[in-house]
Amino acid sequence: MGSFNIKSLESYFKIYRKSVRNPKKFWDTIADENFTWYQKWDEVVEYNMQEAQFTWFKNAKLNITKNCIDRHLAKRGDQTAIIFEPNNPEEEAKHITYKELYAEVSKLANVLRDQGIKKGDRVCIYLPMIPELAYTVLACARIGAIHSVVFAGFSSVALATRIDDSSCKMLVTADGGYRGNKTIDLKGIADEALEKCPSIEKVLVVKRTNEAIKMKEGRDLWLKPLTEKAIPNNVAEIMDAEDPLFILYTSGSTGKPKGMLHTTAGYMVYTAYTFKNIFNYKNNDIFWCTADIGWITGHSYILYGPLLNGATTVLFEGIPSYPNHSRFWEVIEKHRINQFYTAPTAIRALAKESIDFVQRFPLESLKVIGSVGEPINEEAWHWYNDHVGGKRCPLVDTWWQTETGGIMISAIPFVTPTKPTYASLPLPGIQPVLMDELRNEIEGNQTTGSLCIKYPWPAIARTIWGDHQRYKETYFSTFPGKYFTGDGALRDEVGYYRITGRVDDVIIVSGHNLGTAPIEDIINEHPAVAESAIVGYPHDIKGNALYGYIILKETGLSRDKSNLAKEINQLIADQIGPIAKLDKIQFVPGLPKTRSGKIMRRILRKIAEGDFSNFGDISTLLNPEIVEEIKNERL
Ligand code: WTA
Repeated sequence: MGSFNIKSLESYFKIYRKSVRNPKKFWDTIADENFTWYQKWDEVVEYNMQEAQFTWFKNAKLNITKNCIDRHLAKRGDQTAIIFEPNNPEEEAKHITYKELYAEVSKLANVLRDQGIKKGDRVCIYLPMIPELAYTVLACARIGAIHSVVFAGFSSVALATRIDDSSCKMLVTADGGYRGNKTIDLKGIADEALEKCPSIEKVLVVKRTNEAIKMKEGRDLWLKPLTEKAIPNNVAEIMDAEDPLFILYTSGSTGKPKGMLHTTAGYMVYTAYTFKNIFNYKNNDIFWCTADIGWITGHSYILYGPLLNGATTVLFEGIPSYPNHSRFWEVIEKHRINQFYTAPTAIRALAKESIDFVQRFPLESLKVIGSVGEPINEEAWHWYNDHVGGKRCPLVDTWWQTETGGIMISAIPFVTPTKPTYASLPLPGIQPVLMDELRNEIEGNQTTGSLCIKYPWPAIARTIWGDHQRYKETYFSTFPGKYFTGDGALRDEVGYYRITGRVDDVIIVSGHNLGTAPIEDIINEHPAVAESAIVGYPHDIKGNALYGYIILKETGLSRDKSNLAKEINQLIADQIGPIAKLDKIQFVPGLPKTRSGKIMRRILRKIAEGDFSNFGDISTLLNPEIVEEIKNERL
């Protein structure tokens, strides 16, 4: 993997400059040298940023699973591809070799085909973090079916919306899942969802918890008896570079979730390239990303990125606090983890506990530690750097998004000096820019602005499933000709980027993106509610938490407020999932509005934060007196 290796800061700058001067040549070399193709491309990239159209590696033919699995068999067939670490530490971990992975994925691919799944069909995957999740994702890619993984913490309504939006033909789920000392009735949730999903023809069910569940005749099938009979060989489908690989839903600031579509070759090239450079993975290293495969981080850095590099990757079913707050560190020791990649929210939660939980473990196997999902605050950065990385492992703060497919801005270990809270420099091939309010590009350093990317990269999402117009409007219209990330950023004196947070109405809670408008819509469905506004406020562990201001209808005023608050949170949990519950609910007589009827969220944010210092000019409000009232009743 020659051209993947960036060895010094000097060589980084050299390669970076080359990648900007001639992006086509840059990506051409990487794609050419590091993958197996049935047929190479006619053109590296064709694009139109205004229309949001991108063709990478035009007319190339490949199958991503040949690159993830088959091509490693000769050299590392007996090497572990996936280590499965179960929720319960008493249960034995499983080491799945590349040969075994080949057999399991092939069997499942054959089962999918037998059950009528063809190239281009959508398969929804609603599974806990068990090996079958990895097999199913890869089996879909093997036969050219489009996988749509839905995080197993989502509610039945959220699952139904996602199945319906992309008319999935099949659902793969489990009888249940473990989460710490709880079990989750996944099949029950799925059954409820499927009442509203006419497109689903078959449901394959993995046995995990052995709970008694209902199986619907003609629709539901246990997976195991099918795979046991299946042939452990499968001829991979020949895919075009731009054939869809997967859909993954992410919350927007308004409307229903956006089904981000990623396609085959560009995603493959980019996840492999970023994995190799950012984690400094060497032969025989053990890599652990603690995300769930239900999120993009799990797609790109538990499965595709590591497997494309022939790595050993850990699939962890558990949570950081079970059976106690040492679990992460125990797993690192047990499997001698070399690269560890997690989220600031987990770090903050663990940093709150006794230092003994981590100090008992030398963690000497670690070489690189990483962070993703939200800005990492200075305190968490130092705790992670000192107590986990032992001040000797580079801490890579990786900025990216579901839409970008892979990491965009990050330090490269042993190359880029790290700086707390800074994601630092763009990867070669990535051209970030900061934009001012007048939509001009801001030149020079020591400045802040809206973060955009001005040249496409191979893993840029191609569209929102079924709604290209929305894709164009959301990402390519605010700053014409550029991809707008929705994040604000600061560029320091040497050109390092620090992501300051969302500039739209998306709030990141424990690393999960939540749009305010969709939650408000749900709250407003409650019969006692007239209107609501949600804002984020800083939270020690979650990064941000949700603060809801709710106006009740006449009929709701006499109700018990704490019961009402519970009902409202239950409604949110049912429709989205527990992650979107409000931490604070304040019932208010009105909301500060401009004369045009727009809620002044800036003021609500300040009140939620407890910052009453300067509300700015509120004289333009329709009802300035409400600000004082809300402030006095703040929770
Ligand atoms: C935020 C997760 C600061 C950012 C891979 C982005 C970050 C959103 C970082 C995407 C980081 C992600 N520093 N902020 N290192 N990484 N974000 O789609 O606001 O779940 O736009 O993708 O998370 O979240 P998503």
